Amino acid sequence: MSIKVNNKVFTLQTENSTYQMKVTEHGHLLHLYYGSKIADEDISYIIPQVMRSHESNPPEVGEDRIYSLAAYPQEFSTNDVGDYRIPSIELINHDGSYSFVGKYASHRIYDGKYSLSSLPTIYANEDDCAQTLEIILEDDVTHVSVKLLYGVFPKKDIITRAVILCNRSGKEIRLRRLMSMNLDLMTSDLDMIEFYGHHYYERQTNRHPLTHGINEIGSFRGVSSHFHNPFAIICDRKTDEDTGNAYGFCFMYSGNFVFDAEVDGYGQTRIAMGIHPKQFDFHVSDGECFEAPEVLLCHSASGLSALSHRYHDIFRNNACRSKFVNSKRPVLINSWEPFRFTFNTDTLLRTAEISKKLGADMFVLDDGWFGKRDNDRAGLGDWVVNGEKIIGGIPALSEKIHAMGMSFGLWFEPEMVNEDSDLYRAHPDWCLRVPGRAPSRSRHQLCLDLSRPDVCDHIIDAVNAVLDAGGVDYVKWDYNRYVCDVYSSYYPADRQGEVYHRYILGLYRILDGIVKTHPDILFEGCSGGGGRYDGAIMTYFPQTWCSDNTDAPSRLVIQYGTSFAYPISTMGSHVSVCPNKKTKRTVPFKTRALTAMHGTFGYELDPAKMTDEEMSECAEYTALYKEYQPLIFGGDYYRLSSPYDDELFTAWEFVSKDKSSALVFVVMQEISIMDKNCYVHLRGLKDDSFYRIEQTEQILSGAVLKNAGILLPHTKPQYSSYVFKLSEVR
Ligand code: GLA
Repeated sequence: MSIKVNNKVFTLQTENSTYQMKVTEHGHLLHLYYGSKIADEDISYIIPQVMRSHESNPPEVGEDRIYSLAAYPQEFSTNDVGDYRIPSIELINHDGSYSFVGKYASHRIYDGKYSLSSLPTIYANEDDCAQTLEIILEDDVTHVSVKLLYGVFPKKDIITRAVILCNRSGKEIRLRRLMSMNLDLMTSDLDMIEFYGHHYYERQTNRHPLTHGINEIGSFRGVSSHFHNPFAIICDRKTDEDTGNAYGFCFMYSGNFVFDAEVDGYGQTRIAMGIHPKQFDFHVSDGECFEAPEVLLCHSASGLSALSHRYHDIFRNNACRSKFVNSKRPVLINSWEPFRFTFNTDTLLRTAEISKKLGADMFVLDDGWFGKRDNDRAGLGDWVVNGEKIIGGIPALSEKIHAMGMSFGLWFEPEMVNEDSDLYRAHPDWCLRVPGRAPSRSRHQLCLDLSRPDVCDHIIDAVNAVLDAGGVDYVKWDYNRYVCDVYSSYYPADRQGEVYHRYILGLYRILDGIVKTHPDILFEGCSGGGGRYDGAIMTYFPQTWCSDNTDAPSRLVIQYGTSFAYPISTMGSHVSVCPNKKTKRTVPFKTRALTAMHGTFGYELDPAKMTDEEMSECAEYTALYKEYQPLIFGGDYYRLSSPYDDELFTAWEFVSKDKSSALVFVVMQEISIMDKNCYVHLRGLKDDSFYRIEQTEQILSGAVLKNAGILLPHTKPQYSSYVFKLSEVR
């Protein structure tokens, strides 16, 4: 049993962590502990019993001047009743008051993992032995309640949280904020690690000490966004890859979000994560409920690598039900970078034919195949093949590609519309726009209003019509702008604060109607590169295009940041031409290939323009990747060095779960005139076992590989690279 209740003390146990909370004699639910494993004993002594002057004391505590919601650690923080830190909830009751005081009403424990009816969540497999705890906190005055949900995955060291608000007040209430989780820690000597960026520059790693006040990241772009990933780590100041406490917070939602770490005057830290409250105003009628998305919490006492391994394992095994998640994935060649909108059937067939010889498994036709899509000013929304470019249509093209022994993929951007499209001409009211104002364009396109059920139905039918005609083995699902002008003509004026969230609910309904009804199609997410790289999207898409930046040195940094939460098997990563179109950098083919092996591997180039030498390298690395893919996808991943440190190289490693084999990748970053010896120290191997390194033919023990390391060749030109394959000698 991983959930125990004793005297209203709730203790959640995983193999390596414990989470504890307690109902006080006055019915408040206090948070007591989250950290390394401890026994089930009540540790409420950790809350100092001191009078904090000026703080308010709830009426039910009488003359007790110590009991204060402002200083005690809360499990679900309240609003307007004396706790001045970030609230978990803000609502407007029918009488105009803002108060909510949730007191313990009941709880329930059951085997298995809860799910939410409107939002994606992690699921449990039988061997996870997952359990659920539900605690209901009710306001005795208004009869509004919240159900706090906890999913405990003991073997995976993951605890999930979500909240469902239910209104039984007899009147409508307005919800202005509902955080999915609140975690009050008794300390504040902590660092925050977050992943920021922009298009072409996703998930840059930023580590900084928490400061007094609110340390906040978030997105208000209608999408989780390139700017801040909905994942953050709070850790001890000295935590590194192998040692120290670290807490991870991963939000299972693709829309607006906020992550706050508030350090109060008493040196305590409140962490909260949820839907961004800005422009959020949801009406909840009497008898209705509102679901707040799930957060995946993880604690590691052994540093950041273990934290990442736990997230990788849960995403690999419990997020997406697609059969492709843990199976072999195709090496694909994509038409976008070489051809953009300018191609014809012959170009495509010729490209597929050459790629087949190089070992590619799949040809993907990107943007430009539909409507009047000869540039990015027209056609979005019209998911009907352009018969002049694709003679005979998609099934006919696919048949020819299948005949070559390759599979076939197609690009869509279903959530968008160009004004120059048949769809827009027929339904100008189907996009988000504020009455009386022209909407802002981005990449010449507008956002379809996914909060409208009729728009969602249309998208499902239009995309399914193409897919049901057959021949499509893979879909790249793109999303190329942020949301603004958030107003839906479908809803009355006082319901416009619901549109951002309803858009995301619409998105999930569309994905359910397309992705889940096509189990034999491999889906890859994309959003101008990696602008929608989040846990929720991973429940639909086994892989997501990491970034439109395919320059290898830039990718090292992006992939490094992405790896803290998300498995390598989710990262769309391709080799493109040189000099790189974006950065103009020249990098050897081998290094571009080894960097693209940090993911699903493929190509974004015209193979007809390759030199003979490149052709043979291409075939060689494609074959190598196919050999390595099971270990890359299934192994434990180690960041051996950081691209931000003052190191000469970036290195990473995959170790099989049984520790019998490993793969090590190294890319030299800087040209250094310093005559410096370079060693790559491996991790995760068995100290006492011996490993044969295929490339150097050395046989070394795990302990030596860890402590002395692999010696790199003495001459190390900039952007040169190495891969080492190690097998245990039995
Ligand atoms: C986005 C994607 C690219 C490509 C283009 C097509 O930018 O990230 O990979 O699909 O759209 O317009």
